[in-house]
Amino acid sequence: MVQLTDIRDSNTRIATELPAKLVAVFVGATGGIGETTMKQFAKHVKEPFIYFVGRTESAAVRIKAELAALNPQGKYIFLQSDVSLIRNVDTVCNEIKKRETAINVLCISAGTLVFDKYTSEGILYFSALSIYSRFRFIENLLPLLDRATGLRRVLSVLAGTKEGELDRTDITGQSIKNIIRGRRHTTSMMTLGLEVLAKKAPSVTFVHDYPGFVKTNLGSDSKSLLMTVLAIVATVLAPFLSIPIEETGERHLFFLTSARFPGLSEPDAAAGVALGEHVSIALGSNGEPGSGVYSIDYNGDPGSPATVAVLAKLRKEGAGEQVWEHIEDVFTKITGNTAA
Ligand SMILES: NC(=O)c1ccc[n+]([C@@H]2O[C@H](COP(=O)([O-])OP(=O)(O)OC[C@H]3O[C@@H](n4cnc5c(N)ncnc54)[C@H](OP(=O)(O)O)[C@@H]3O)[C@@H](O)[C@H]2O)c1
Repeated sequence: MVQLTDIRDSNTRIATELPAKLVAVFVGATGGIGETTMKQFAKHVKEPFIYFVGRTESAAVRIKAELAALNPQGKYIFLQSDVSLIRNVDTVCNEIKKRETAINVLCISAGTLVFDKYTSEGILYFSALSIYSRFRFIENLLPLLDRATGLRRVLSVLAGTKEGELDRTDITGQSIKNIIRGRRHTTSMMTLGLEVLAKKAPSVTFVHDYPGFVKTNLGSDSKSLLMTVLAIVATVLAPFLSIPIEETGERHLFFLTSARFPGLSEPDAAAGVALGEHVSIALGSNGEPGSGVYSIDYNGDPGSPATVAVLAKLRKEGAGEQVWEHIEDVFTKITGNTAA
């Protein structure tokens, strides 16, 4: 477990150990975990160049002013979009590609707890935001990440370490009505998909984390009875059990910048903030240190041996390739191509 003091120590060394003008893209940063992580990034990185994506213009105006106050040397560009649609993801990525040839960081946290509606492109809304839109962003922007010097990192904030059985007969997961089984399935899809992407770009680090319980607006767009009850329970328990929002941002900034998480082809981790006295290279999703894909909890620790074993079994059965074929098939049906 990485102690919070070590996380903070690492973050305070970003300004002196990492180059200025890092370029970052935050998807889902008009609120919640994305917003707080982006603010920590703006606070600690010298002259950051940040693109942030969300739907709510009014939140973006407020956040942009707050970012400028945190770091007046930074540049902050808001791209308004509903990224549950793959075609919209392409528009956002093309906009970024018009302006940048390389990016250092892609942090994706746009999510929802709405399970009962479909996008106009025919994808379950929950899966669209949790899986398909995220993989489309990564696939589209991977050449720019690969081209960056120094830090090259993707972070997907979802449910790392909660992997479990994947329903190979229903990769979309639409027939899974049990919320726990659904989470295991979706989490495995994310980690296995990132492993496929890591083979395409081994110099890039891929982190999939479970942020713990953080009091945000997550769930506020759901009208289901279950979510209403959960929201009430969450409000009651939050003061005792939740991770404070600013601390969440600090933890995610560490995942984005620490040498604890090297890419597969840079095992000495030269690109990140140097390991502190108590911090070591993390075990990757395959149980090997520094393997380039990290499924971690909010302490930066990997899943249990049982979780690593489930992933190993799925990997051996070719589930990663099956997931990826499915993802690219969906992309091709919607857009005519596997990446924009
Ligand atoms: N909070 C927790 O306790 C917790 C626990 C475990 C896992 N997670 C996972 O962590 C992720 C982030 O959660 P969070 O708590 O930060 O959620 P949140 O507070 O609801 O924030 C989600 C962000 O995504 C944006 N977003 C939502 N739908 C969008 C869409 N269709 N297009 C573009 N942007 C969209 C929202 O902004 P706009 O409304 O402006 O679009 C907001 O900026 C989620 O995937 C969640 O499942 C959270």
